[in-house]
Amino acid sequence: MVMTVHGNVSVQSVETPYPDSPWVVMKFGGRSVATAENWKKIEGLIRARLDEGVSPVIVHSALVGVSNGLIDLLETAERGEPFNEKLERLKRQHLDLAADLGVDGGLLDDLFEKLEQMIAGVRLIGEVSPRVHARVLATGELAATTLGAAYLKRVGLDAVWLDARELLVAKTLRDQSERAQFLSARCDYGVSEELKARFRAAGKIIITQGFIARNADGHTVLLGRGGSDTSAAYMAAMIEARRLENWTDVPGFFSADPKAVPSARLIRSLHYQEAQEIASAGGGILHPRSISPVRATGIPLFLKCTAHPEWEGTVISNAPGDDAPQLKAISHRSGITLISMESMDMWHQVGFLAEAFGCFREHGVSVDLISTSESSVTVSVDVGANAATRTQLETLADDLRRLCRVTMIHDCAAITLVGRRIRTILHELTSVLELFEEYQVHLVTQAANDLNLTFVVGSEHAQRVVQQLHALLVTRFEGGVFGATWEQFARGLPPTPAAPTPWWIERRDELLKIAEERGAAYVYERRSIEKALDELKSLKAVDAIYYAMKANPHPEVLRTVHAKGANFECVSPGEIRRVLELFPDIDRKRILFTPNFAPRAEYEWALEQGVWLTLDNLYTLEAWPEIFKGTEIFVRVDTGQGRGHHEHVRTAGAHSKFGVPLFEIEEFARRARAAGARVVGLHAHTGSGVLTPEAWRDTGQQLVELLERFPDVRYLDLGGGLGVPERPGQRPLDLEALDSRLAEVKEACGGRELWLEPGRYVIAPAGVLLARVTQTKGKGDVQYVGVTTGMNSLIRPALYGAYHEITNLTRIGEAATEVVTVVGPICETGDRLGSDRLMPVTKEGDVLLIANAGAYGYAMSSRYNLREPAEEVMI
Ligand code: LLP
Repeated sequence: MVMTVHGNVSVQSVETPYPDSPWVVMKFGGRSVATAENWKKIEGLIRARLDEGVSPVIVHSALVGVSNGLIDLLETAERGEPFNEKLERLKRQHLDLAADLGVDGGLLDDLFEKLEQMIAGVRLIGEVSPRVHARVLATGELAATTLGAAYLKRVGLDAVWLDARELLVAKTLRDQSERAQFLSARCDYGVSEELKARFRAAGKIIITQGFIARNADGHTVLLGRGGSDTSAAYMAAMIEARRLENWTDVPGFFSADPKAVPSARLIRSLHYQEAQEIASAGGGILHPRSISPVRATGIPLFLKCTAHPEWEGTVISNAPGDDAPQLKAISHRSGITLISMESMDMWHQVGFLAEAFGCFREHGVSVDLISTSESSVTVSVDVGANAATRTQLETLADDLRRLCRVTMIHDCAAITLVGRRIRTILHELTSVLELFEEYQVHLVTQAANDLNLTFVVGSEHAQRVVQQLHALLVTRFEGGVFGATWEQFARGLPPTPAAPTPWWIERRDELLKIAEERGAAYVYERRSIEKALDELKSLKAVDAIYYAMKANPHPEVLRTVHAKGANFECVSPGEIRRVLELFPDIDRKRILFTPNFAPRAEYEWALEQGVWLTLDNLYTLEAWPEIFKGTEIFVRVDTGQGRGHHEHVRTAGAHSKFGVPLFEIEEFARRARAAGARVVGLHAHTGSGVLTPEAWRDTGQQLVELLERFPDVRYLDLGGGLGVPERPGQRPLDLEALDSRLAEVKEACGGRELWLEPGRYVIAPAGVLLARVTQTKGKGDVQYVGVTTGMNSLIRPALYGAYHEITNLTRIGEAATEVVTVVGPICETGDRLGSDRLMPVTKEGDVLLIANAGAYGYAMSSRYNLREPAEEVMI
């Protein structure tokens, strides 16, 4: 995501529907406005907005703790108790801040006098009407903004204080109780020319209160819990603000509640719908009601941390960042009661549900989740949100019992996985479902909007389940949508979560030139190859790297690999010949030949060449024992457990044709001895595209166990398969962790040499495929973008469903507004390089870049349709 810097603040930039609007609405929470230190930050932010050429509309809350203090004051007075001490404490809090800000505390005299009168009145009558409640609470916002405006004036910012009750008018809703009308009011937020005129006339900097409005009769009303968020969102929508900024004491939404999961990660971008889900599922920092106004207008909403404006935050907008379905957060809410209604014959009984839900209405209880079967309906009730007591629920249950059998389970927690197109990631949730073997799940629901999946479990398990889910589903992502962890923020570290800029952004101009000259090209960057090899060479536990040249046998790639001192793993005489042609003097033991179902002649030839040879079948020793007499060989072991990004690339286990299975190892050893061959190396390669460091340790340990059968073994080759991140946000293989896992193997194998034979890791990210746009077409719901080459150059998407990031290199930085499917010119429906990709409006001649294409790209290309694959270029 492109960053735009405004003064000392960075705001991740996204599209706004109102780029010419003169206003930015900035909402500050109670903690943000409670200290002089924070006000200095706010001052800086305002100046930066002015420099940017926009007028800030500041909407803020009462000082932290003041609203609760006022409620306490009301309750004290209602009980007829003396309240002076509490009132004094509230005044002191404001006067102390006034002193710190260097402004006159006397500005608040009137407000506090009125407050005292109202409280005294309450004490006298012993009752608080909703009307008085609202007026008393409003004091907090009025007082805080008065100080704020005075401070801004003192530092030379010409801020104009406006009374929010003259700006926002509550609407009267049918069936709304008096209490709700005063304490939980709602306003229309349609565009208001009147409000715009008001602001325009007032001046450049406006400061007003959150949380309060007036009703049609001119009385003060409150907007309910989280009301300041709502006020700011209303105003932003009404004046068509350029953006809404919500400043609090945390940087934004996290992937889980940091109290339960300190490694929770900042979510850098969310769609409004996702934000709404997270906020409703217990997200805490933003009131769910405040999202609709900005969502309706498409105004981007930025969550930021006042004390650290330099930290990145969460951006909520229509632009989802990337198009891949992804889990964004695991929210949880405790205090859930499940009510299950069972009746054998209810299914066909017209009006049963209406009657049952009628009971809920009568008891004023709103329902949250619902799941149904032939004979039962289970609903969940959020006890806290309903302000319902257990006794109230019991009376409701008694009423329901007239209709059906009722069971209630109290003290449950709802754990919600939130993310767009959550259904498409169901298969990734296998491990999650295994988790529920341990915990009883009372209810599972999946929202019709495809944004959430909720499990209801006993409250006592909630924290643990959230932690485990987080570890399973979020921890493995790097960069992309997830930023730094809560712990990193808490330690005050300047978080640097952004994934490094890929080399192809830096060398964009060169690439565009190549694509323009050639139409389509594979481009490899030498520096990236060298960097990958240096990383591999830094593994202390590893003695030798054999580059699996099947990934990319381009001569320049091989030269680079050779220059870095790496060796070669070959699967055919053709590959060996290429190495020998390029490096005629190479030590033959720097070549390892790993054939599979190859003819006898290839084994004979390889042995003549003096390269290392791997056998992966008993047949070779049974049928041609004579050719192995007096030789030193490797055996490829099938450890039984295949791994990797796709079934086709898992190379161990009964369904794979590779390796000698463990139950035949004994026999292999016997036959090798009989043939007069010495087994000096144990080899295993379990699969390709693996990102878990434990994989090679586990393989290594299995090989170590075989050592006693092969006394001559000097080398343990743990294969290749080292994966690279493919989707945005995927966490790369942790090489440090790999090294320490391998150190365990190194220790267990008594100092024998450990080898790895990576292909992809060396060359995948170093290569890109460039292709130019030929035609575009809209068909049904699908928008196609055609390019000059397709599956003839890159077959991985068609063969494995592999994901390659696709970027419109010509239009980098332009807003991505179209969802397209990128296709080639080949006569197959499967000739798709990527589906449902979010891109800028793409035109004929644009250059598209298909990333991570250095491995198994050109190497697997064909001349299908007699279309030549893209040419290769090394830069
Ligand atoms: N060693 C052996 C014995 C192998 O069979 C392979 C790959 C490697 C090493 C290197 O694996 P790497 O480090 O590159 O993952 N065409 C598939 C990959 C097939 C891999 C075949 N063997 C793809 O495009 O994903």
